[in-house]
Parts: sequence; C-alpha cells; structure tokens
Amino acid sequence: MPKVTIDGHSIEVPEGTTILQAARMIGGEIVPPAMCYYSSLKGSGGYCRTCIVRVAQGSAKDPRPMPKPVASCRTPVMDGMVVENITSPEVLEARKGVVEFLLINHPLDCPVCDQAGECDLQNLSFAHGTEKTRYEFPRRTFEKKDIGNYIKLHMTRCILCYRCVKVADQITDERVHGVMNRGDVAEISTYIEKAVENDFSGNMIDVCPVGALTDRTYRFKSRVWFLNPMDAHRDCKKCSGKAVLWMHGEEIYRVTARKDQNAEVKEFICNECRYDKKDVKQWVVEGPRHIDRTSVISANHYEDLNSLKHAIGEQQKKLQEKITQKTSGI
Ligand code: SF4
Ligand code: FES
Repeated sequence: MPKVTIDGHSIEVPEGTTILQAARMIGGEIVPPAMCYYSSLKGSGGYCRTCIVRVAQGSAKDPRPMPKPVASCRTPVMDGMVVENITSPEVLEARKGVVEFLLINHPLDCPVCDQAGECDLQNLSFAHGTEKTRYEFPRRTFEKKDIGNYIKLHMTRCILCYRCVKVADQITDERVHGVMNRGDVAEISTYIEKAVENDFSGNMIDVCPVGALTDRTYRFKSRVWFLNPMDAHRDCKKCSGKAVLWMHGEEIYRVTARKDQNAEVKEFICNECRYDKKDVKQWVVEGPRHIDRTSVISANHYEDLNSLKHAIGEQQKKLQEKITQKTSGI
C-alpha cells in the first residue's frame, strides 16, 4: 500500500486513493477544503481549486517536487509522496487567490441567505478570504428563478461546482438542468425553463456548498442556528428514511439528509421525506444530531440542553417515586 506524508503525518492508503481522501483519513486541520468534490458523487472534483496542495516529493522512486500546486481531490497518492497543505505558505497564498476568484461575483448576502451558518464558502472566506475586494467591474446579476415547486435558484451565489448537476445525473431519473454557456457567462439553468421535478431533486439543495439552491418550503423561516437538529427516521419505500429534522419546539421547519464531518450526505433522501413529512408524529425521533463539521451550529448548546432536560426528567421521576412510596407507607 502506498505511504504518503501530509503536513508531517504519514499514512498507508489503498492504491488509487487521492491526496484529499488520504488527508481525510488522517483528519484534523490538515484536511484541505473542498467546494466541488463530493465523495458520493462520481466524477465530482477538479472544478474549484480550493483543495490545492504542494507536492514536495512526487514519490520514493522520483522524489522531484511537482512544479505547481495540484488539486488534491484529483491527484492519486504515490508511494513515498510528501505533501504540504497548511505547512506551505505558498499553498495558503494560492488558496487566498482561489477564494478571491470565487468571491468575485458572489454577493454579500450572508445576512439574508438561508445557507448562512452552514455555508462552505462562508467558512472558506472566513479562513482564507481577504477583507476587501480588488474587483472593480460590475458583478454578474441574475433574476432569482423558481426551478420547480420546491427549489429557488439564486444564480448570483452559484460557484459552478457542478455538484447539483452530478446529483441530477446520478440520483434522479432525468436531468433537466446543467451549466449553460462557458467562461464568465456560464450559469446553472434548466433548459427552456423546465421545472426540476423528480423524487430526489431536493438533494441538489443539500449538496450545494453555497446558498444558490434554496428550499422554497424553508426560505426565510429561521436562521439555522436557532433550530435544533434531531436525527429521525421513518419507514420509506423510496429512500432510507433517515433524515435530520430541524426543529423549533415541536415544529419541524425543514428536513434534510444527514451530513458527515465533511459536510457530505452519504444517504440521499426522497422529496416525500423532505417536503411532505413536516409533522413530528410522522417520524421516530432518535435524539439530537451531533454536528461535528465546521459550522456555527456545532457551537450551539442544543445537545447539552437536551441532556439537561433528560436529567431533570429522570430526577423528577425518582422524586415522584419516593413521594408515592412515602404516601403509600402512611
Ligand atoms: S447551484 Fe450550487 S451545487 Fe449547483 S453548481 Fe451552483 S454552487 Fe454548485
Ligand atoms: S475540491 Fe478539488 S478542485 Fe474542487
């Protein structure tokens, strides 16, 4: 098995593993950010360049460094490879440039964007962005579009990562949208204003790393950090039925698929679970969802509050039992 060293951490990985996958196996702050790669979507990656790293030594056989930064999501590991991510000032500087490009046309919408608090671009610009833009030209503007009953497209926020296109290709029956045109006129669009309507289309919202695709049933209802994410499941014939309910008290504000520590969905859910089951009685609630990815939600205290509520409930139960025992003894 090839052995790779990333920022001083060595690991042996199966043949064909990419640098990004190897870094994720090591974990922690050495994992490069990824805006377009998505492990459960075939052919994803290679579009955004946020995952660039420096290969300081190509392999044990050929120790020469690679001449320029490479996309870690597309570069397979070689035995003896030495990679630098956060230990390379050159990579950090180049990544700043990538983020500046991604933000050239991106509006400063965070205060009103539904994705705020769980937006990969927000996190990326927090870590690698600059305070000011050097861009002086007019930005691209687009009308907001309803693409189907459930999804609203804000093209100004799109970073053309192609994830939603891959979802439509690989998970839904028929793709009716894609990236039209090229260069600075490229845009996500449905052909001839067709609506995106199929059982798994809602997953496009979950994979969108920014707020370009928003859930029309949830838009502007709440900031995500005011909600309590709860793991829940139901018997579903179309999908696994395993979801996260974003709750405010007893009310379900939105339903999403479950995301892992890399903000990726492993089990996609159907539109019936996502949009039609908004009554808590239709679900078996398992308990608070632990959010361990970079997100403002992980700073929330809903898990503590729930364990606190549980502990208080248990104490009350015991107290009640004691009172009952005493009164029956009298
Ligand atoms: S709409 Fe979202 S998922 Fe689709 S290409 Fe744009 S940023 Fe990526
Ligand atoms: S995550 Fe590698 S190029 Fe986008």
